[in-house]
Parts: sequence; structure tokens; C-alpha cells
Amino acid sequence: MQSFKPENSKLSAEEKLNLLVEFGARISCELRLDKLLDIIGQQITKMLDVGRCTIYLKDVEKNELWSKIAQGRGLEHTEIRVPLNGNGVISLVARTGETINLPNAYEDPRFSMDVDMVTDFRTHSMLAIPLKNNSGKVLGVFQVANKSDGTAFDKKDEGILLLLATFAGSAIEIAKLYQDVHVAQLETIYRLAVTAEYRDQQDTRAHLKNISIISYLLALALGMSKKDSELIKNASPLHDIGKVALADNILLKPGKLTPEEFEIMKSHTIYGGRILEGAHSKVLKIAHKMACYHHEKWNGSGYPKGLKGEEIPIEARIITVADVFDALCVFRVYKKAWPTDEAYAYILGESGKSFDPHVVAAFKKIYPSVRKLYANISVNQPKPQTADVPAGEKKKLF
Ligand code: C2E
Ligand code: SIN
Ligand code: SIN
Ligand code: FE
Repeated sequence: MQSFKPENSKLSAEEKLNLLVEFGARISCELRLDKLLDIIGQQITKMLDVGRCTIYLKDVEKNELWSKIAQGRGLEHTEIRVPLNGNGVISLVARTGETINLPNAYEDPRFSMDVDMVTDFRTHSMLAIPLKNNSGKVLGVFQVANKSDGTAFDKKDEGILLLLATFAGSAIEIAKLYQDVHVAQLETIYRLAVTAEYRDQQDTRAHLKNISIISYLLALALGMSKKDSELIKNASPLHDIGKVALADNILLKPGKLTPEEFEIMKSHTIYGGRILEGAHSKVLKIAHKMACYHHEKWNGSGYPKGLKGEEIPIEARIITVADVFDALCVFRVYKKAWPTDEAYAYILGESGKSFDPHVVAAFKKIYPSVRKLYANISVNQPKPQTADVPAGEKKKLF
């Protein structure tokens, strides 16, 4: 299949179809919004033979339009934001839903040079069309600039871009829904985890955040993919979810637990397992393994089952190192905070005993980063209990 070039003659129905099929095939299997926007931008830049294709999406909460614009080839993406009620071309198209075609952008009073100034790009001709979903709601704006042959965009270009935008609109909407569900899922996990931990933690948020960062770094250092490592990161805050079932007199006991009390304490792994039993999502399946087995030990002396070595799921072998390291470094009602380097020495000393030697070796590799993480935290002072998700943290969970 040939990529279409605008200087070719009028498109036949078959050519249009081919164009859509090729474009559709490339964009329909991408659910990550950032990646999808990149692919659409690249495809359209190529197909229409233009200097730049930019996709602006509405951010309804902030009343803005945003875009990530690549500065030059292969360089970093800069986030550009334009007010929805502004006077520039992009804002106008988003508000009115009408196409704007400028043969010479700098001569038109509606064109705002702000974006060019940030990105070091000189717009000559430009075409901006509304990006709509299936029901006709404006999601954002598609903008192409600088036809490679130096001419202005014509009706034919408008037609093609509208056609491609129809397809892109559905793909973008699906990716956005998927992302929203993902964010909602992470937020739910986080709130559940806070509920479980807030009674016995002085600083729940820092604790959960540090454990997920350490687990993530460990997974990466063990050679896991970024995707799997992220699942581990997102699941890890739930490892102690079973603590919701424990009574205050045990969980908050200021001193040492009696053997009977410790037996009850151990049941938090069983309760956690029950709470997450039969979960369907990947992240909750991992959380289930972590909740059940995060107190198992490599040499078989852990609980609840006394599993040994690789019988213990790798997710649990990872979280246990992160959990114990963090528990040692911070204050608890029953113990003082250890200096970070002493906690590190303890982890190394437990290689092959409590912990999988591979995971300890990975911990050794990541320790410089971990040490920095704990350098800024005040771990010795018990603080008043303020365990809730602050309003500002709703979006950025970790
Ligand atoms: P946690 O406080 O989150 O501690 C998690 C794990 O970190 C512990 O699992 C243990 O392996 C390690 N850890 C924590 N503090 C120390 C320490 O001072 N020395 C050493 N060597 N390891 C430490 P473990 O022991 O299975 O305990 C599970 C949970 O039971 C703890 O979670 C905590 O909530 C509770 N717990 C354990 N011991 C006591 C205690 O003596 N008093 C009270 N009130 N709670 C306890
Ligand atoms: C975009 O990310 O919106 C377009 C990418 C590009 O500028 O090539
Ligand atoms: C405009 O909003 O007027 C144009 C901004 C751009 O070049 O993307
Ligand atoms: Fe635990």
C-alpha cells in the first residue's frame, strides 16, 4: 500500500479506503494515549507531507487545550497549553467546531505565535480542524502546518484531514476512557491501602510511596520489563490490606506482642488473601500474591505457609525486601527508626535467610537511589495521625 501524497490527483474512493485502512491499522492497537498521539502525529505528518502535525486535546477541568510537541526530530516532547477561551486559531477551532485554513499564518490576526516561539518553529501555511468523537462532541483540534511543496492547504487537504480525524477521534476517545479507568483504579487501590495502613503508620503516604518505589526499582534491576515493574509498583501498596481486619489493641500495641497476639497479627496475610481472592485485573492478581506471601521467608521459616525459595512468588520476594527495609527505617509504635545504613546492612545479612539472594543483589544495585529517597524523610519523630489522601494528590498518586 502506498502512502498518499497530496500532490497526487484527486483521491478515488478506493484510495481513500486504503488510506483509512492503513491509518486505522496503525492506530487501532494502541491504548496508551501519549503513544497514540505520537503515532497519529507521525502518520499524518508523513501521509500529508507536512512540516508538523499537532494534536491538541481539551482539558475540561482546566479549561485549556494541551499538546505534547516534539521539538525537532527525536527530541523531548514539550507540553504546550492554550486557554480554551483564548483568541488563537486553536482555541477558536475548539470553541466553534469550524475549520480554519490560513495560507499565511503570520499575516492573520487570529494566529498566535506563542507556540512557534516556544518550539522554535516557523509556521507558514496551516490548517486546523476540530477533532470530534463519534457523537460529534469536540475533543480537541488537529493542526497541520507547512505543506512541503510550499503551497497553501486546499479543500482536498481539508477533506483528507477530516477523514483521518474521524478515525483518530474514536481511537483517542477509547484511549482516554482507558486511561481514566486506569487512573481511577490506581486511586482506588491507593485509598484502600491508606485505609488499611493508617492506624499503625505515622506517615502512611510516605511509607506506601517508598515501598512502591523500592519494589519498582527492584523489579527493574531484576530484569523485568517496565510494564511488569509498573504492575508491581502499583500493586505493592496493598500488601498489608489484611490489617484492616485486626483490632486496635493488637495493631496499635505500643510494646512487644505476646506470642498469642503475634499469632493473631499473622492472620493479616490470610485476610489480605481473602480480600483480594479471585481478582481479575493483572494488578490485583499481583496484589493478591503479595498480600498472601509477603511474610514468607526464603529459608522456609516465614508465614502463613512456610513456603521456601522459589515456591514463593517473585512478587512477594520483592515486596518483602521493600517492606522490611522500610519498616526498619521508620518509627513504629513498637520500635525506633533504624539509621538507613543499618537497615541496609540487615537486608544484606538476611540474604539466603529471609530473602531471595537475587533480590538482595538487586537491592545492592539500587541502594544509592534508595538511600537518597530516605535522606529527606524525618523518620525518628512520631507525627500526629493525619491519614487521608490530600486533595492535591488525587491525580499524581505515586
Ligand atoms: P511492620 O511493622 O510493617 O513490619 C514488617 C516487617 O518488618 C516485620 O514483619 C519484620 O519482618 C520487619 N521488622 C519490623 N521491625 C523490625 C525490627 O525491629 N527488627 C527486625 N529484625 N525486623 C523488623 P513481622 O515481624 O512478621 O511483623 C508483621 C507486623 O506485625 C508488623 O508490620 C507489625 O505491624 C506487627 N508487629 C510485629 N512485631 C510487633 C511488636 O512487637 N509489637 C507490635 N505492636 N506490633 C508488631
Ligand atoms: C504530536 O505529538 O502531537 C506530534 C508529533 C510531532 O510533532 O511530530
Ligand atoms: C494558534 O493558536 O493561533 C496557533 C498555535 C499553533 O501554532 O499551534
Ligand atoms: Fe505485613
